[in-house]
Amino acid sequence: ALPRDLDGRRVLISAGGTREPLDPVRFLGNRSSGRQGYALARVAAQRGAEVTLVAANADLPTPAAVHVVRVGSAEELRTEMLRRAPDAEVVVMSAAVADFRPTLRAEHKIKKGASDPAALELVRNPDILAELVARRTPDTVIVGFAAETGDDAGDVLHHGRHKLQRKGCDLLVLNEVGEGRAFETEDNEGWLLYADGREQTLPRRAKSELASMVWDGVFPLLHA
Ligand code: C5P
Repeated sequence: ALPRDLDGRRVLISAGGTREPLDPVRFLGNRSSGRQGYALARVAAQRGAEVTLVAANADLPTPAAVHVVRVGSAEELRTEMLRRAPDAEVVVMSAAVADFRPTLRAEHKIKKGASDPAALELVRNPDILAELVARRTPDTVIVGFAAETGDDAGDVLHHGRHKLQRKGCDLLVLNEVGEGRAFETEDNEGWLLYADGREQTLPRRAKSELASMVWDGVFPLLHA
């Protein structure tokens, strides 16, 4: 049986991957399935938390006792997260947010036309995690995710440590990606990097077990 150590804790989690519309039928997107974020939500609810899951384009069943809010674009995800974060004791940004979006969203379907394809003009999306950190209350625990590639584990850790510093979150869940890792798979592995410098390896496990390990890491950070 799972511990009820998150009893009544208000938890806000983002999951999935944002889609940035080009026109009514097309978008720029990414390969995130949402499985790790959903597993985090499911396990938190099983451990007693009141969970709101902001799901970006995830095609997964709603976990028991989890309030799911569906969004599409980074802008919609940002609006929901910033609006809901002040009520949360823990905020977990596990969604894969598109770094860029098309500058213009065509009202009607873009036609092939006769000429060469037009260049896509992009603008940078806001960093939602950084905004959540900037607006936090001292009692909120903020967890970020990072999916990094590297020549070896040391390389991946190096990128992760920098990301933790840059984002300013309390805990970073670092995954090595590439070649069948993390995205669209049932398993996950990596490291937990804490703001106080502690580091913990996460062995390759089912995403639900990884989720338990993440909550084990978050629990001691919670304020009374
Ligand atoms: O910089 P990078 O995209 O690797 O950072 C990943 C972390 O930042 C994740 O927690 C992700 O949800 C969050 N993020 C965000 N807004 C963005 C880009 C990433 O909140 N525009």
